[in-house]
Amino acid sequence: MAHDDKAAQARALRDALSAFATGVTIITTRGADGEPLGMTASSFNSVSMDPPLILWSVTKTAWSGPAFRDAPHFAVHVLASDQSGLSNTFARPGEDKFSGVDTADNANGVPTLPDAAARFDCRNWAVYEGGDHWIIVGEVLHFERQKREGLVFCNGGYATANPIRPPSTAADEPSGESDVDNMLFYQLSRSYRQMAQQVHAAVIECGLTLPEWRILASLDPSSSRDLPDLAARTFVEPHALPDMLQSLAADDLCSVAVDGDRMTASGTEKGAARVAHLLSMSTALEKTALAGTSDAERDILYTQLKRIIANTNT
Ligand SMILES: Cc1cc2nc3c(=O)[nH]c(=O)nc-3n(C[C@H](O)[C@H](O)[C@H](O)COP(=O)(O)O)c2cc1C
Repeated sequence: MAHDDKAAQARALRDALSAFATGVTIITTRGADGEPLGMTASSFNSVSMDPPLILWSVTKTAWSGPAFRDAPHFAVHVLASDQSGLSNTFARPGEDKFSGVDTADNANGVPTLPDAAARFDCRNWAVYEGGDHWIIVGEVLHFERQKREGLVFCNGGYATANPIRPPSTAADEPSGESDVDNMLFYQLSRSYRQMAQQVHAAVIECGLTLPEWRILASLDPSSSRDLPDLAARTFVEPHALPDMLQSLAADDLCSVAVDGDRMTASGTEKGAARVAHLLSMSTALEKTALAGTSDAERDILYTQLKRIIANTNT
């Protein structure tokens, strides 16, 4: 196989594997000289209940790979949904990952991190060859659980796990139609509310406010929008927009241009990356919401909704 084909195959394989949603862990240990070591790993999985075994795999080329292979003990931290920053810190090679992180040694002298959704203190039980990785099996000696939602990694990005609500059955529905069922206002607000629920929870989990999410979702790097346009799209009061936009711009999540008293904003790559998983979640939800709807019906629905927006845009 030509080199380019091989590289393309590898990319395609990685992409296909990324469809498998996993949790995210940080695994810590001490090196032979006692230095704290840690790395982000999503290859963690449970293996056996008796004896209690877990596994994960470490790439042989990782700086800390050989140390993990040889360490007698390690600790697995299952990250909570607000710990993607910590995950990024421990995924960077060659940094002092522990500086500024509050650690405490466990009974085996392994540095542990606070606030994980779960922690498993392990003894190195076996190491297997796994191609360019070592598969490390650990025996769980002690574990701790906090009632925190776990962080998810899927399609190359962080996400949160939101339970899928089972489709409501006839028994869940109020019996009989009432006048309100024939009100457009009721149908629109109920469908919006049901669709928005999961996305809004994910927005808050990723540290954005709902107005910030609406702003970032409305912007793209190749075009700009002025304040009246953005205000209408985001339900943010026009007078509140400049501050919000400047604060997003300070984090490089959008860029702002001022020309006289006209302010415009456009997206940045960082802003787009921040909301990418929320947009794919919205698209997936839309598919679910429109299950059983033909393309023609969908087009009519959109035309009608746009007409309602235009007719009521006072
Ligand atoms: C979400 C995520 C999951 C990862 N999972 C693994 C993994 O399971 N095994 C692995 O060897 N590297 C994994 N990595 C990459 C390592 O965290 C990265 O190579 C890190 O630099 C290793 O630490 P070190 O350079 O200090 O050895 C993952 C990175 C991310 C962002």
